[in-house]
Amino acid sequence: MRWSLSLCALVAACSPRPSANPPTSPTPVPSTSVSGSSVASSAPAGPDAWLTDPAMIAAGRALFGNNCSPCHKADGSGLIGPNLTDSAWLHGGSPEQIETTILKGWPDKGMVAWGTMLTPHQIRTLVAFVVSIKDTNVPGGKAPQAAP
Ligand code: HEC
Repeated sequence: MRWSLSLCALVAACSPRPSANPPTSPTPVPSTSVSGSSVASSAPAGPDAWLTDPAMIAAGRALFGNNCSPCHKADGSGLIGPNLTDSAWLHGGSPEQIETTILKGWPDKGMVAWGTMLTPHQIRTLVAFVVSIKDTNVPGGKAPQAAP
């Protein structure tokens, strides 16, 4: 699958020291974070932690306001481009699918390919932001353009 290949490349590009910290290594965790526990963890560790990292989301929100709001509105509820706060996705609403959409765009449909204009890290902040607003159903948002 193409997106998984590009995602791998992205992960490698994002990591400052790709081999220094293999995800499977039993790194000691702070005493407040219990591995495998789903309770009382405000900042889950793990390979997907960036997705819910408040700093990533905040950075993504700022970038979104600059680059994406003309078509998706600053709150993501849709304008020329689709509403990103509903549960209907033309191209899939998983983090990987959203990442692929932002990276490669859908140029023939009016969605810009941002992979050549933004860094992989910036793209990830945008993914974190979009994931954070999906399913929030901002009032007055554009009508769904796909089946949920
Ligand atoms: C020039 C207008 C335009 C800009 C700017 C734009 N988009 Fe889009 N975007 C679109 C259009 C149009 C679509 C729908 C494409 C389609 O119909 O297949 C879309 C689709 C998407 C989708 C997929 C939605 C779905 O239902 O699957 C995501 C995610 C998205 N854009 C994110 C972004 C982000 C993040 C940015 C800023 C970095 C951005 N867009 C900037 C026009 C734009």
